[in-house]
Amino acid sequence: MTGFRRTGGGAAVTSGPTRASWLDAVRLSVLGLLPTLAQGVVIRRPLVVGLAAALDTNAWGCRVLDDLRERRGPGPVLVTFPGRKGLVLLSADDARRVLDETGISFTTANREKTAALSHFEPDGVLITQGAARAERRRFNETVLEHHAAEPWFHEACRAAVREEAGPLTPGHELTWKRFHAAYQRIVRRIVFGDAARDDERLTELRDKLRGDGNWFMLHRKRHRLRAELFARAQRYIDLAEPGGLARAVRATAATADVKPVAQVQHWFFAFDAAPIAAYLTLGLLACHPEQAARARADDAYLRACVLESQRLWPTTVAIVRDTTAETHWPGGWVLPAGTAVIIPCSYFHRDARRLSYADRFEPEVWLDGRAEAEWSIAPFSRGPAGCPGRDIVLLTSATLLAELLDRDWLVTSAHRLGPGRLLPRTADHTSLRLRAVTPPSDGFSERPGFN
Ligand code: HEM
Repeated sequence: MTGFRRTGGGAAVTSGPTRASWLDAVRLSVLGLLPTLAQGVVIRRPLVVGLAAALDTNAWGCRVLDDLRERRGPGPVLVTFPGRKGLVLLSADDARRVLDETGISFTTANREKTAALSHFEPDGVLITQGAARAERRRFNETVLEHHAAEPWFHEACRAAVREEAGPLTPGHELTWKRFHAAYQRIVRRIVFGDAARDDERLTELRDKLRGDGNWFMLHRKRHRLRAELFARAQRYIDLAEPGGLARAVRATAATADVKPVAQVQHWFFAFDAAPIAAYLTLGLLACHPEQAARARADDAYLRACVLESQRLWPTTVAIVRDTTAETHWPGGWVLPAGTAVIIPCSYFHRDARRLSYADRFEPEVWLDGRAEAEWSIAPFSRGPAGCPGRDIVLLTSATLLAELLDRDWLVTSAHRLGPGRLLPRTADHTSLRLRAVTPPSDGFSERPGFN
């Protein structure tokens, strides 16, 4: 990277951004970056997730960033990570600016993200730059926001969810394995249509390649697996009567540059974050009976609960951009093109110095405008590259949770998700266990626990 330039003149102009000392860089790398990478940024590694939750490693990263902001102020900090420099944002205003200016001087196609995702979705809009990006974005919006808003899609989605929720019946302990398997069937039906319900090979291929993606450019590309994944996906789009989003893909005009099947791969991959948030939402509601009662009665509130789970434990722990041009920053310094810019979501979402509700389950913030007003709260990102799949995720997860909430639930694992104490900043969804509580005939039911 080239050096930093001054702009303008006068005493107020500094020669560059605040730079993290080598000690701060080590602390950020070891306490923030390393635990995140070890858990897997593209597909989670359950054993490491368990260990990270036991140690609450996200709290370590938050403490380092809090300390940095306390000492150096709210401006962005340039950090030298092993092999790369990155500008870490510490203020909501800077986060807003970067999200808003995505596509102008910041690209979503950051170098590391591209290395990770290109294992299974080269040509996905998220890692596309240049003219093709606008066309691909338009295609994504047409399918995911316009077609998916139509009644036929909602009906197909609800039918898939209801049928797959059935086996998650009371009397059994609900584990992540069972919940995830059911959600996987739902995802295959929603993305590729009912014909793909039992196509576990499709999910297996995706997840193998995601495992490679966890290693970024360090893992070789497995072209044969990727070709098999793409061919399998294309078959569902080419069916005489495709279902789910595949039907909308067929109905949407696309130029050669769009590469619809590559866009579909992103949807299939991104959907895998939804069960994590939905399962943790169920755990939270099991421990918050008042909120559970309201969620049963009000779909908008239930969706707010899902969003709140995403705020508390964002599945995209950091939103990353690369600068595509020189960018000017307060203080008069200029950041060169090609620098990574990091929006640390799991820090911003739990910013206890700004947010009174930082470490509590408070779905109301999604209904009264408080979360909306904070640009640093962005579980689905924001701005021109905001997630166009958000409504589909909320529809799917809220429909599934509404099915499950026809009974009370008890958390039977050691997770502490109740209102009695601040919520941990790292959660292990894979070891969360719940038991359905069937109301006995005398009307007295075992109440959900306050873990
Ligand atoms: C809980 C589930 C999901 C979460 C938390 C989520 C979150 C996000 C976030 C944070 C981004 C921005 C990423 C970045 O800038 O690096 C994003 C982008 C995107 N998401 Fe999602 N997403 C989810 C599910 C989905 C689903 C199911 C779909 C499609 C059906 C989808 C479609 C997309 C697309 C196409 C983009 C790229 C937008 C662009 O580059 O213009 N997402 N999502």
